[in-house]
Order: sequence, then C-alpha cells, then structure tokens
Amino acid sequence: MINLGCGPVFVDGPDWINLDFAAPTPSVRQANLLKRLPLPSAKAQLVYSSHFLEHIPKPEVDGFLRECLRILQPGGILRLVLPDLEEMARSYLAWRDSGEHEKANFLVLEMVDQCVRRESGGELGRLYQRLLREAASSEHHAMIAFIRERMGEDLASRSRLKVISEGRASTILDLTWILRGARHRLQQAWVRLWLAGLPAAFRTQNVSLAGIGERHHWLWDFHQLQQTLSAVGFITVIRCSADSSSIKDFPFHPLDIDADGRPRKGLESMYVEARKPD
Ligand SMILES: C[S@@+](CC[C@H](N)C(=O)[O-])C[C@H]1O[C@@H](n2cnc3c(N)ncnc32)[C@H](O)[C@@H]1O
Repeated sequence: MINLGCGPVFVDGPDWINLDFAAPTPSVRQANLLKRLPLPSAKAQLVYSSHFLEHIPKPEVDGFLRECLRILQPGGILRLVLPDLEEMARSYLAWRDSGEHEKANFLVLEMVDQCVRRESGGELGRLYQRLLREAASSEHHAMIAFIRERMGEDLASRSRLKVISEGRASTILDLTWILRGARHRLQQAWVRLWLAGLPAAFRTQNVSLAGIGERHHWLWDFHQLQQTLSAVGFITVIRCSADSSSIKDFPFHPLDIDADGRPRKGLESMYVEARKPD
C-alpha cells in the first residue's frame, strides 16, 4: 500500500510505503511525485493520496494519475482525498444567501487563498494567527469551531498546546522546529536573491514564495475528477466518505479520521475511489 504526498500523516508499518518531497523521518521516502514514481509496476493493492492532487499543476495531472495506474495491481484501488469545489461553492452561496457573511468570507478564503497566495501561510495563515492570539476571547469560539468543522484544523487545541509549551524549557521537538525554520528561511533568502533579477510587475503578479505542497494549482469537483480518472483508464469511480471505503480494513484512523473520530480534513473534503481494470 502506497501513500503519496503523505506529509506527517501515514501508517508506519511493513505493508506501507510512504512518499513525500519532505521526508523528515525514515518511515517516509523522499521523492518528487511529479516524476516517474520510484516504484515497480502492478505491485500495489492501494494507492492513497490525501490533499496532494490539488497541488499538482493541471498539465501534470494526467501523467501523475497514469503513474498511479501503472503501479497498481489489476483490480487495485486508488483513493483520493481532496477539497471538493462543488461543496465549497454550494456552502459559499448558502452562507452568503442567509446573510452569514463571516462564514461566506471564510469560504472565499478556502477556495481562493491557497491558489493565489504569494507567501507562505497567506491570508488563511494570518487569520489563524489572529484567532490563536485571541483564542481566549469568546467572540472567536464560534469561528474556531467553524474552521474545525470545515477544514479539520483544530485551532482550539493548538492554542492549548501553545499555552503548555510556553511553560517548558526547550525540547527536541522545539529544536527540530527551530532547525526547520532556519533551513526554510535560508531557502527563501536564496530564492529571493534569484527573483530580484525579474521585472517587478512580473514578480508581483506571477511569483509565489509559498512552500512546496502549499499552493493549490486546481480545485476539483467530483464530476471533473471522474471524467479525468476515466480518461486515463480507471473504472468504477465512486464517491466515498471519511469513514467509508471499498478497501478492506482501510486504516480510517489515522488517515481520514482523527483521534476524536472526526473527518481529519473536515467537511470541505471529498473521498473518491477508482479501480484499475482486471
Ligand atoms: C497539503 S500536504 C498533505 C499532507 C497529507 N497527505 C495530509 O493529508 O495531511 C501536501 C503534501 O504534498 C507534498 N508534495 C507537494 N509537492 C510534492 C512533490 N512534487 N513531490 C512529493 N511531494 C510533494 C508536500 O511536501 C506535502 O507534504
């Protein structure tokens, strides 16, 4: 079983191969998944990929899906989890129509910010920081709960963690984050140096310093994804949910259900499975 673009969420066990561009632990293999996948043909029972497809530039998507098809056994299943454009568009309209403008504005952020942000975190990051800073204020509780439901981001527990960690001396975790932060800043400085040579108008309109795997390149709805999967050769493209799958013994937790039993990626996500023909 293969987890592509696993980030920090994967099953650590002999049946799983976890791949990502960033591989901070030996349980994850480093790979650029936009190239040929470093895996043999027709061996995988399951290819799972959560919140990765929307990060692939549209012209590269067919190639990526063909690679998924290549590595699957006949009858093997591809399970994709990704933001659901149709759900987001319908929710946006419903909140706007009912006059719940703060929620409608958040939906705009969900759909647009990750596609257009020019720096890491973007507008969404700034909103999270503000809510975390002011988490104690009761006026934000409803918004924090709304974000948890929509995106699975648990800002309430993050703010509790922050309070706990503020009372400690440095730990290995803190050190890892400091080192990662320093490396990220060095990379950014190097990139900025190169970008300084570009015309300012081009830089402002076309260049983003968001991290790898941070910016969305496309938003999919089920119908468009179904057509694309069928066109590359998958069959039986179905919609599932965070807690349903056609895969026997699928490890819903930790992959799609969090420790509290909620969809890890919130209401905004769709769950799509497709089969390689026998
Ligand atoms: C939004 S995160 C999703 C992480 C995890 N699958 C989840 O569901 O929470 C996207 C992941 O894709 C990885 N990624 C983005 N572009 C990549 C590439 N070209 N090759 C390999 N990994 C990539 C990033 O490093 C990041 O871990």
